[in-house]
Amino acid sequence: MPDARFTFPKGFLWGTSSSAYQFEGNSKNNQWHRWEQEPGRIAEGHTCGLAADWWGGRWREDIDRAMEDGHNALRFGIEWSRIQPEPDRWDEQALDRYLDMLRGLDQRGLFPLVTLHHFTDPLWVTEMGGWENDEVPALFGKYAARVAEAIHSYVTTWITINEPNVMAVLGWLLGEFPPGKQDLDTTLTVMVNLARGHAAAYQAIKQVQPEARVGFAHAYRGFHPHHKANPLDQIAARLHHQAWNEFYPALFRDGKARLLARTIELPEAENTQDFLGINYYTSERVRFSLRAGRTGLYSRRSYDPDAPLSPNDMIASTPQDFFHALEWARQFEVPLIVTENGTEDSEDSFRRDYLTAHIHQMWHAVNFNYPIKGYFVWSLVDNFEWTLGWTRRFGLYELDLDSQRRRKRPSADLYAAICAENALTSEMVREYAPRLFEEIFPG
Ligand code: BGC
Repeated sequence: MPDARFTFPKGFLWGTSSSAYQFEGNSKNNQWHRWEQEPGRIAEGHTCGLAADWWGGRWREDIDRAMEDGHNALRFGIEWSRIQPEPDRWDEQALDRYLDMLRGLDQRGLFPLVTLHHFTDPLWVTEMGGWENDEVPALFGKYAARVAEAIHSYVTTWITINEPNVMAVLGWLLGEFPPGKQDLDTTLTVMVNLARGHAAAYQAIKQVQPEARVGFAHAYRGFHPHHKANPLDQIAARLHHQAWNEFYPALFRDGKARLLARTIELPEAENTQDFLGINYYTSERVRFSLRAGRTGLYSRRSYDPDAPLSPNDMIASTPQDFFHALEWARQFEVPLIVTENGTEDSEDSFRRDYLTAHIHQMWHAVNFNYPIKGYFVWSLVDNFEWTLGWTRRFGLYELDLDSQRRRKRPSADLYAAICAENALTSEMVREYAPRLFEEIFPG
């Protein structure tokens, strides 16, 4: 059989994704650090500690790796609590460190995608009640303006807030993230304030840099009725899709926050996405359940038993739903960037199949001319996985936390081959994901 090649458009961005808190280490002035100190919050009592030591300068060796592996982009985060350690103090040295990193990326030909908020708030913000407090969105806007002034000559594309739906729901509804609350009304307040924060940051960046492209990174999940023909399961799946997937991108298009029973007008949020960042990991089946109650949207969720599962059962590989996510995202009529996709897998067997299958599906979407501009694997190096601590390993490179040594996983080579060719080829699938060969190249 002749070699097949799924080629991507010229200039397609290939990178990895990271965040400030999960990589920098020694980041103590935010609510996540405080949360970690409370017993029982993090798996096995882990803490973020030195993480991948990017604050100590190890970003240099890691972006060398990215460059050597042929990546042409990197998504990284800026830590609000470092830039504005107190309400009336800006830390110029912290800004300089990020400038240094931006220069480092520039020298290595890595396009920077900058995230301003990825789950962490400065402690002084937490003490005001965090995103429950209606004053926080404007304060976030000021921080965005300060950062934009300092670094805009190196940055064209900005992510205001990472996964506002995850932040609000895990923090205020499920109680798994700080502040650990379980209250639906407060969750809705936080969802709206995060939207206001996004809008404030959008406007602030545009004032400094009118030509900037500003968007957010959206956690998308596929939801399917558990029993396809059951109308209650259908309603439950649709409710999940609306609340989880549609709320923010629709709001940033038309300025309307659709909250279960009512709609709030947020005119400042209208047309505040120049692109849509999609974080895609998996999809679920949804079954109607009265017992799950209002906060559980009257449903229970589970993985499709036929979908391959990651080693700790954390992620089901559902690549076709990745295609559907991209298809769904077209309705917003803005360019799309896959700002996260990847899986935990310390042994790196499942990951090779997962990446291959997802990149293959993305290629289909690209070939339907969906406006996809780039793809970022979560992640370059193992990093602190929030409440799961160090028990889940998402890196193309393994990290030994104590020695800070990195070791390449085979997926890093697979991804390097894809970057080098700007394509997924049958040869790569044969070498790195042979189990998928028949499926991708039948006959
Ligand atoms: C988050 C990352 C996280 C990843 C893997 C995403 O939802 O943005 O911070 O590490 O998922 O769970």
